Amino acid sequence: MTTARKKTRQRLPGDISHKHYVARALRVDHAGEFGAKQIYAGQLAVLGKKPVGKTIQHMAAQEEEHWQAFEKMLRQRRVRPTALMPFWRVAGFALGAGTAMLGPRAAMACTVAVEEVIIDHYQKQIEYLGDDEVELVRCLKKFRDDEDDHRATGCDHDATTLPYYPLLRGAIRRGCRLAIWLSERV
Ligand SMILES: [Fe+2]
Ligand SMILES: [Fe+2]
Repeated sequence: MTTARKKTRQRLPGDISHKHYVARALRVDHAGEFGAKQIYAGQLAVLGKKPVGKTIQHMAAQEEEHWQAFEKMLRQRRVRPTALMPFWRVAGFALGAGTAMLGPRAAMACTVAVEEVIIDHYQKQIEYLGDDEVELVRCLKKFRDDEDDHRATGCDHDATTLPYYPLLRGAIRRGCRLAIWLSERV
């Protein structure tokens, strides 16, 4: 008989409790997916009728699915959403619409930059949780893969050939990391 080695995490003194970790993860993921929804809504407001509109619509539909899943988990576990939701509503939409106004390539560059941070963020949660929270980890893996598809879609649309791509990427990455940090805490 083979026994699968169960991954166990070493908890160090000062580590937050499991329950606290999960609540914080759900809160920030819920906020992030909401922000993603808003980014694509902003992009669609500008580019919805352009040829790229259909592709963005597809990604937006997946973000809606992701967000709904976290909505449900938040309710089930009685975790409060971040107090910053009204802010993410406006900031996400503005980021999406703003980059879309610069053109489809800039909109896609925004997607690539955001998804890179989110993929990394989900990957860290997946590794931290290990064999705990089977259902949540299953969701995180599925969403991480969806986000990776979005990132690849952005690259397929020449996002990285944008002359100011490194600048835009850097700014968006910093913004996303700050958004994550804040949503975990506020
Ligand atoms: Fe998502
Ligand atoms: Fe996404």
